[in-house]
Amino acid sequence: MSVVASMMRSLKDYDFKILTTMERLHLRYEYIPVEVLARQLRKSIEDLMESLDKLHKLGLVSRWKQEYLGYALRQYGRDALALKYFVDHGVLDAVGIRLGVGKEADIYDGLSPSGLRVAVKFHRVGRSSFKQTKRLRSYGEASSWYRQSCIAARREFEALEALYPLGVKVPKPIAHNRHVVIMGVIIGDPLYVVTDLPDPSLTLREILENVKKAYREASIVHADLSEFNVVVTQDFDVLIIDWPQWVSARHPRSLEYLKRDLANIARFFNRRFGLTVDLEEELKNIRG
Ligand SMILES: Nc1ncnc2c1ncn2[C@@H]1O[C@H](COP(=O)(O)OP(=O)(O)O)[C@@H](O)[C@H]1O
Ligand SMILES: [Mg+2]
Repeated sequence: MSVVASMMRSLKDYDFKILTTMERLHLRYEYIPVEVLARQLRKSIEDLMESLDKLHKLGLVSRWKQEYLGYALRQYGRDALALKYFVDHGVLDAVGIRLGVGKEADIYDGLSPSGLRVAVKFHRVGRSSFKQTKRLRSYGEASSWYRQSCIAARREFEALEALYPLGVKVPKPIAHNRHVVIMGVIIGDPLYVVTDLPDPSLTLREILENVKKAYREASIVHADLSEFNVVVTQDFDVLIIDWPQWVSARHPRSLEYLKRDLANIARFFNRRFGLTVDLEEELKNIRG
C-alpha cells in the first residue's frame, strides 16, 4: 500500500475539516496561528492540538514556532484534500502503487468506484529545479509553485479534454482538482526505453500524425514532446502524455515549440533507428 493510501485511511472527517479550513486561511497566513484556527473551527486549543499533532506526525502539516505557534499545509496535506474531493465526487475509490515519477509529477495507480483503473497525476511544479528544493518543504499558499501546480493540472486537463474526443492518442481525461489530474491509465513503456519496434518508421509516422491532428484540429502544440513523453503500448500503439505546457497555435512562439517538438522526435528516431526526417517538409505537412 502506498503512502497516499495509508494516509487516506487514517483521516477522519474532522481531520479534513481542519485541512480545508487551513487551506482557506492560507489566503491570509503563511503559517496559521493555532488560535485563529481554533476560533474558526469552534474548538478548544487543547482539542485542536491533539488533531494537529496527528496531522503533523502523518506529514500533512508543518509546524512553525517563532513569534507564535502556527501550522501550514504540506504537500501531502494538499494531496489529501484533492483525493478527498475525488472520493466525494465518485471518481476515485482507492489509490495504489506509484506508476511513475516524472520531472514534475508523481503518478499513482488508482481505482474508480466502478472498478476501472485510473492514473492519478500529482503535479509538482518546480521539483526539477534545484533552487526550489528548499521551498518544497513548505507547501503553503504563499509558495507560488503550488499555485503553478494547480495551473499545470488545469491546463493539462484542458488539453486532454480537447484532444481525446478528436481521437488524438492521449490518456482519457476523467477529472481534475487542485494540482491533481485523474486520467485513463496506460500500460506500456516510455519510448526512450524501447529498443525494438516491428516498424520504426510506422511508429514515427503515427507520432507525427498525432502532432498534426492536435495542431490542425485543436490548435494545440505540445511544447515538451520527446521520447520521454511518448508511451508505446504492447500492441505498439503510441500515446502522447504530459501536456501541462501546451501552447495554442496562435501563441507567438508556437512555431518555435513545434519545430523543437519535431526535432526532438526526429533526433531520437535517427539515433536509435537510423531514420531521417525532413523537418522542413514535415513542418509544411503539419501546418498545411
Ligand atoms: N496515464 C498514465 N498511465 C500510466 N502511467 C503514466 C500515465 N501518465 C504518466 N505515467 C507515468 O508517469 C511518468 C511521468 O509522467 P509525465 O506525465 O510525463 O509527468 P512529468 O511531468 O513528471 O514528466 C511517465 O513516464 C509514465 O511512466
Ligand atoms: Mg514527462
